[in-house]
Amino acid sequence: MKTIAVLSHKGGSGKTTVAVNLAIAWRALGARTVLADADPVRSASDSLRKRADHMSLVVETSAAKLDALAYVSGKGGCDVLIIDTSGGPDNGMIEAMKVADLCIAVSRPTYLDVAATLRTVDIVRRLGRQGMVLFNQCPPRRNGVESAVVSGTMDILRRGGLEVCPLALQTRAAYQRAIAQGQGVTEYEPGGKADAEIGGLLAYVQGKTAGAARDRAAND
Ligand SMILES: Nc1ncnc2c1ncn2[C@@H]1O[C@H](COP(=O)(O)OP(=O)(O)OP(=O)(O)O)[C@@H](O)[C@H]1O
Ligand SMILES: [Mg+2]
Repeated sequence: MKTIAVLSHKGGSGKTTVAVNLAIAWRALGARTVLADADPVRSASDSLRKRADHMSLVVETSAAKLDALAYVSGKGGCDVLIIDTSGGPDNGMIEAMKVADLCIAVSRPTYLDVAATLRTVDIVRRLGRQGMVLFNQCPPRRNGVESAVVSGTMDILRRGGLEVCPLALQTRAAYQRAIAQGQGVTEYEPGGKADAEIGGLLAYVQGKTAGAARDRAAND
């Protein structure tokens, strides 16, 4: 099983949006995917309970139970466990990091978000976990080139010592409309720009976690 934690020190960066979209896109490929909603606000659950498959897709949990949930999910045949955490430093972020094969730190491309993300990066590194930074809610690219604000903040975070995903998610109405309907953008607008972004992100995350199941098996 691959376990991915989506986290950030700053609220509203897009953790739930990323977790929900990754879970739905990964499941559509045939992987037995579960989204662990570890945020007491239950935003992921609020969106996903509209779905016919919500009983098998989402589990409401807490930081304290993540270790046990990951163990039971792995034994129960789950292929992918995606953890949505709440914003802020005392939010169970460390518990999520400890069970994750990959930590995705979601950041908006603003000064205050980047400052907070550097703290997230620091904890991921100190715990010795594999991680990456994902930029979300970015302004549009011009002729395929990221805006100066996005490329500048990417550079700052690269110097923080964690890989930065070269794919940044842009601000798009499709993300908001899809989640309001309990859908991923891959379902809401197949062939659209947000669909392409999530497809690219999924491929990237799959590449980063390709060895995870093999490593786990070797350690068992
Ligand atoms: N790429 C995007 N384009 C447009 N809107 C977005 C995008 N990403 C997130 N949003 C919107 O921004 C708001 C915050 O997103 P979301 O709830 O996913 O963030 P979060 O990090 O989970 O927040 P919290 O810290 O409160 O859990 C939501 O209204 C969401 O629909
Ligand atoms: Mg959230």
